[in-house]
Amino acid sequence: MKFINYSNEELFVDEVSISNPTDYQIQIKVFSAGINRADILQKKGHYPPPKGESEIIGLECAGTVEKVGNLVQKFKIGDQVCAILGGGGYAEFVNVDEKQVMPVPSNIDLLDAGALPETILTVYENIFNISQFKENETVLIHGGSSGIGTTAISILKNYTKSIYVTAGTDEKCQKCIALGATDAINYKTTDFEKYFGDKKIKLDIILDMIGGSYLKKNLKILNFKGRLTFIAALESIKSEINLLYVMTKQLKISGSTLRSRTPEEKGKIVKQVLKNIWPLIEEGKYKPTIYQTFKMEDVNLAHNLLESSNHIGKIILDIKGE
Ligand SMILES: NC(=O)c1ccc[n+]([C@@H]2O[C@H](COP(=O)([O-])OP(=O)(O)OC[C@H]3O[C@@H](n4cnc5c(N)ncnc54)[C@H](OP(=O)(O)O)[C@@H]3O)[C@@H](O)[C@H]2O)c1
Repeated sequence: MKFINYSNEELFVDEVSISNPTDYQIQIKVFSAGINRADILQKKGHYPPPKGESEIIGLECAGTVEKVGNLVQKFKIGDQVCAILGGGGYAEFVNVDEKQVMPVPSNIDLLDAGALPETILTVYENIFNISQFKENETVLIHGGSSGIGTTAISILKNYTKSIYVTAGTDEKCQKCIALGATDAINYKTTDFEKYFGDKKIKLDIILDMIGGSYLKKNLKILNFKGRLTFIAALESIKSEINLLYVMTKQLKISGSTLRSRTPEEKGKIVKQVLKNIWPLIEEGKYKPTIYQTFKMEDVNLAHNLLESSNHIGKIILDIKGE
């Protein structure tokens, strides 16, 4: 099969064979793969796959079921599916535990479905499970125009009218508001701590992918019993913490990574997402924000775009092609 290999940070189409799926695995004929920032880290040698996972880049995909393992129960050959992967998405075929697989919603194009799993599962786990979001709470998403940010806005607008985001350009801010954010702060021209201080808005939940200098400000603007959850630290993994805010406001600071989890752990979130988010999609209340789709041969352009941060929403790799 064709897959995307890499050397010296350059990606290229290569050939490799694939084994049959094991008892609980499904083999997916891949239509599309979502592109994620972790893919760039892996290409640069900073984010190796967890033990036992495919060495091939790619954390999510959509396609049709090509083969099923002997003990697979939920899917049959030909079903349209999307899946959260530990690796292997940038390839014509991938084997994945059936617990990590979801049916493609009836109103989502198979190509676009490759961009659903990673951000939806991450947002669900970090906002609903870890941060224990309750309806009508006030939420701040840093990196509002990112794949994660646009997903969080589009889900949360169904549950609260108080969604704030930060983003790096006015155009990104406008897009976030159009998606359903209450307001968007261009962090390059407005200090977000001052913004919330001036408006006397207290945040119940902050989803942060920036870290570094944001920690101090986040702690100040959080509400009593506020929750701060990290999914990345694009500025810095190191920061100083004022514990007084944590104690007096009874704050909870947490964080998580999805990729390193077992199929059982991922499967638990998959079940919750199928129960709570898939109906939103089917009812047209959630739509993914897709910025651009690239052919397999143009994968370097796709990575360049992600690294430039000029995109808004998700970038997709079209594996099937014409
Ligand atoms: N923990 C997990 O389980 C998990 C799962 C999925 C993703 N993630 C992480 O969450 C982050 C967002 O993922 P994504 O796929 O949505 O990413 P993405 O689409 O590439 O967006 C990242 C955005 O962050 C903003 N940003 C702010 N400061 C930045 C900096 N110093 N360097 C680079 N970008 C900066 C950029 O927009 P501006 O113009 O606004 O600056 C950029 O568009 C990534 O770091 C990803 O690895 C974690």
